[in-house]
Amino acid sequence: SERSYIMIKPDGVQRGLVGDIISRFERKGFALKGLKLFQTPQDLAEEHYSELKERPFFPALVKYIVSGPVVCMVWEGPGVVASARKLIGATNPLNAEPGTIRGDFAIVSGRNVVHGSDSPANGEREIALWFKEGELVDWEPTVLPWVLEL
Ligand code: GTP
Ligand code: MG
Repeated sequence: SERSYIMIKPDGVQRGLVGDIISRFERKGFALKGLKLFQTPQDLAEEHYSELKERPFFPALVKYIVSGPVVCMVWEGPGVVASARKLIGATNPLNAEPGTIRGDFAIVSGRNVVHGSDSPANGEREIALWFKEGELVDWEPTVLPWVLEL
């Protein structure tokens, strides 16, 4: 089943938005397979955003991501990668629809509260980067047949 790496960035943690953000994914019906509070090392932040390393904002982006603890999560379900990006909203929060996380809680791209994988392949790449074997839990919510047509 498809998985996405979702991360509450340091501004989301500092601003007390962790519970609200987790609730949105829970209420949608996706299954939480991994969760931790984590202080990101510089090299991991650089590796996570390596596709952006030539961009002018890259140094500021890495500084932002390591500026405080993040909440790392793995969410699973059909279409979770694209659905999570809809729940999160546009990169520039001023373009994000009300009702999305960034639309509701953020103003600028450099403090946009949350990360979501942009493809299933990148989701798996990021999960391998941020979680060790044994940190993920192999379980199925008992409500799954009430969420999915199994
Ligand atoms: P992520 O879910 O964090 O990967 O965001 P995204 O997929 O919506 O955007 P992208 O991967 O293109 O950029 C990664 C992150 O870099 C964004 O979430 C922003 O925090 C930051 N970023 C992207 N574009 C800009 C920009 O033009 N200015 C600044 N300051 N930050 C940017
Ligand atoms: Mg991205």
